[in-house]
Amino acid sequence: MTHEQPKKDEWAQPPAPPKYLWMSGDLVEWDKALIHASMLGWSSISMVFEGIRGYWNADQEQLSIFHLDAHLTRLMRSMKVMRMTSPWTAGELRDSVIDLARSNEFHGDCYIQPLAYFGDGTPGYLPAGGSPGEVAIFSRMSSSVLGSSSTITCGVSSWSRISDNVMPPRVKAIANYQNSRYVADEVSLNGHDFGIILNQQGKVSEVSYACLFIVRDRVAITPPVTAGILESITREVVIELLNDELDVPVIERDVDRTELFIADKAFICGAGAEIQAISEIDRYQIGEGAIGPVVSRLEKLFHDVVRGRVENRSAWLTGVY
Ligand SMILES: Cc1ncc(COP(=O)(O)O)c(C=O)c1O
Repeated sequence: MTHEQPKKDEWAQPPAPPKYLWMSGDLVEWDKALIHASMLGWSSISMVFEGIRGYWNADQEQLSIFHLDAHLTRLMRSMKVMRMTSPWTAGELRDSVIDLARSNEFHGDCYIQPLAYFGDGTPGYLPAGGSPGEVAIFSRMSSSVLGSSSTITCGVSSWSRISDNVMPPRVKAIANYQNSRYVADEVSLNGHDFGIILNQQGKVSEVSYACLFIVRDRVAITPPVTAGILESITREVVIELLNDELDVPVIERDVDRTELFIADKAFICGAGAEIQAISEIDRYQIGEGAIGPVVSRLEKLFHDVVRGRVENRSAWLTGVY
């Protein structure tokens, strides 16, 4: 059954803003964080960002940020490819994220988005090599689909994935998401929840804002990091949990489009998308069209991990309080 996509509605109409955001070194009240209108557009062309989740554990009264260091490392790498220097170390940004979540008094699940951009108003198509970036960090309360066992439907898009020598998908650049948006619009008009994108070689890459796994004969298969995907942090987590905890071997290899249709199971993963089973792809039913035991066990374990209920994975969490 198709779930009601609470995240999509929530992102279209975000909840009331929090008290503060973090901008260029300071906590700034939400309504007072202003930039000049002339910054519109060109400052976004090289903008890179991260999407990070914080999960609330009511028993422990603790908010845990999931893989904060890995996200900040990826942000630094994205900035490097943009030839953007950072005025802040990853450690300083880490402290700022924690300070922001604490100052906003989040006592529930939240979503945190650091952004880095050239802030001096130089037209974005001119060389900026080596200039420092500005950094801003947004955060807000956010709901989670973990524990709902809901499923999604997917369609394979007619758009191709951007490629490493055009717009590198490895870099989490705002501009890359125009590719995702073409896909999302197309599949949504065709009645699907999410779009699967083939790369320039015609192999499966990923979903417009998540990574993809299929399961065939009890082996999980996911496209490699050279298939035009974002080097997803959740994908790495899923590979480790499947291999080490759930006894499901994982292979990273090219995936053909028709393999999607004959897969026993399929699911997507990502910080925003979390873990969601796919019930159908291009109207082909996947497995029984419901979540199934492997994805169900994975989703439960992932949910326990992010809420700090699995001791040997506590290193993946950064406590706010
Ligand atoms: C295009 C794309 N692929 C994959 C992912 C999943 O990456 P991660 O697990 O690091 O959130 C995302 C998440 O933002 C994404 O936007």
